[in-house]
Amino acid sequence: MISKDTIAQIFDTARVEEVIQDYVTLKKRGVNLIGNCPFHDEKTPSFTVSPTKGIYKCFGCGKAGNSVNFVMDHEQLTYPEALKYLANKYSIEIEEKEQTPAQKEQQSARESLQIVHSFAQKYYSQQLLETDEGKSIGLSYFIERGYSMETIKKFQLGYNPDSWDGFTKEAIKSGYKEEYLLASGLTKGEPGKRFDFFKGRVMFPIHTITGRVIAFGGRTLRNDKKTAKYFNSPESELYNKSKVLYGLYFAKKDIVKKDVCYLVEGYTDVISLHQRGIENVVSSSGTSLTVDQIKLIKRYTPNITMLFDGDVAGIKASFRGIDMILKEGLNVKVVLFPDGEDPDSYSKKLSQPELEDFIETNSKDFIRFKSDLLLSDAKNDPIKKAELVKDILGTVSVISDEVKRSIYMSEVSSMFEIGEKALYNELNKSLRKSFNQERRINNEPEENFPIPQYKDDSQQSKYSESGLNHLEKDIIRLLLNYGDHEVVFLIKNPETDETDEVATTAANYIVVTLVQDEINFENQVFQKIFDHYKSLVEEEKEISNKALRLNQDIEIVEVVVSLVSTKYELSENWKVHHKIYVTTEDMKLRFALEHAVLALQLKRIELEIQDIQIKLKEVPEEEVVVDLLTSQLTLIELKKIVSDKLNRVILK
Ligand code: CTP
Ligand code: MN
Repeated sequence: MISKDTIAQIFDTARVEEVIQDYVTLKKRGVNLIGNCPFHDEKTPSFTVSPTKGIYKCFGCGKAGNSVNFVMDHEQLTYPEALKYLANKYSIEIEEKEQTPAQKEQQSARESLQIVHSFAQKYYSQQLLETDEGKSIGLSYFIERGYSMETIKKFQLGYNPDSWDGFTKEAIKSGYKEEYLLASGLTKGEPGKRFDFFKGRVMFPIHTITGRVIAFGGRTLRNDKKTAKYFNSPESELYNKSKVLYGLYFAKKDIVKKDVCYLVEGYTDVISLHQRGIENVVSSSGTSLTVDQIKLIKRYTPNITMLFDGDVAGIKASFRGIDMILKEGLNVKVVLFPDGEDPDSYSKKLSQPELEDFIETNSKDFIRFKSDLLLSDAKNDPIKKAELVKDILGTVSVISDEVKRSIYMSEVSSMFEIGEKALYNELNKSLRKSFNQERRINNEPEENFPIPQYKDDSQQSKYSESGLNHLEKDIIRLLLNYGDHEVVFLIKNPETDETDEVATTAANYIVVTLVQDEINFENQVFQKIFDHYKSLVEEEKEISNKALRLNQDIEIVEVVVSLVSTKYELSENWKVHHKIYVTTEDMKLRFALEHAVLALQLKRIELEIQDIQIKLKEVPEEEVVVDLLTSQLTLIELKKIVSDKLNRVILK
């Protein structure tokens, strides 16, 4: 947790125009700056930055937000990652919230480890590129494999010389503590006999999504079966194998752009595909995917395509892992490479367009792929076939999206020539089983599987078609743009019948009126914005939309930015009874407020009346009918009062 103070400091320091100027050329246009949008292709600039409001908005594609949102979107980072990125850029020290001494120690251990890795990466690169041994052994190996200098530099490849402790000695000499060298796994051995773990290996640095090196893979150059082809860094404070994907740092932009992530087996597959111009590719480094890795990918795209070499046994071994990906709600496709080829070797035989075309035309939906493969195994053996159907249904059952699932069901039905009804019976068994499995894991008693209820969504759509959203938006727009403005209302005192002038803020007026009427917003983002103002009013704080513009909830920021950045003028055309001329801004605002609140109240009443009428049509019991009719009468009364009031303030 980054402390509130630090977050505030980051927001204050990272001026939106400065942050964006790193990526976009901006020109002054009045009080704003304008440039070509980095989020979509355009020739005439519609990307606007408002330094005074601290926000940007593209009028072409609609992207909008504050400086942190910009970094999140542009660098594909989470909120805390974006904060850290900006803190780093502006040299702001991150104060983690309520750190215990143990946590502080852990933090500094992490930093020391980080520095060791960064030193090691530079050392290995320098060995590879500038020493005789490095050039003749390491570099020539990479060149032989077809890597260009550009690729070698981009992936920061390196070489650890084949001496006992070349790296370790150099690190100690440069002042790095043994403690951290050992923790990194780069150095091993007893005191006095320390040695390089990766000696004589070419080095593949493993990066975080922000590009820091946190581990290495080292490949031997010997053809000797006794030593493992790859050594990998051990897990450490920095490196959690199951949460890292090799190549993601270099791939994330292209994954978003292509809206698909290719998954390959190893380091060399990633690098070779990159060199061929296919950059949306990552590797789980030889192991099956973990849930954390899947979630990482999900941040960028819901689509995974797995590129397999032709080894069928290997593919079958990965089936279970793929169920996990489906369960996370991602769409999985599979590409099978020709026998004896993997992405690394095949990318050297085909040009970029040929390779792209190959992947495109050979992508098969995973469930179809699995069915085909198993079906060809089962041939005409009915028992095997029955097993197989169960297996496939097990996979289908992990898909939680009901629409997707039903599409697969009809496919499986036609593929295996089994009636859909029988399949559904089988599927329900499978669902029930996994439902109870999950309950057992969570130590909950077994229960009957809840058969999904048919959900009637007519209620929801009634609201969205009713124009309610529009009325709610009007109120929120007034809150955001005029919340802090003073308005004078004439209020009739019911006892003395005299009218008093009451001055209050627009926010106060809206909050008090809506709370009194117990009106909630149908739109949840509007509700959150309203709640913010409600607490400002209740706590008598200064009315401002700053906290909302700089909020961490991107949904809120988007709504706020779009409502404050579109030009909005109070209407001139108030037609008012009693010959009142609306001339001043003040009065315009007063009428705008009254109109917005009354219109919303009226619509809510009308919707409630509609509801009652629907219920009455369903012919309920007599008692209920009486209740419903009574409520209806009250509502009709109320409707008349509110419409009368509204008629006195009519927007022409
Ligand atoms: N791997 C590993 N340890 C091993 C073998 C493999 O960690 N002993 C991991 C590596 O991340 C490797 C991946 O599994 O990249 C795939 O293994 P493999 O296909 O054997 O390696 P390649 O990356 O293809 O390397 P090369 O082409 O040089 O053989
Ligand atoms: Mn390989």
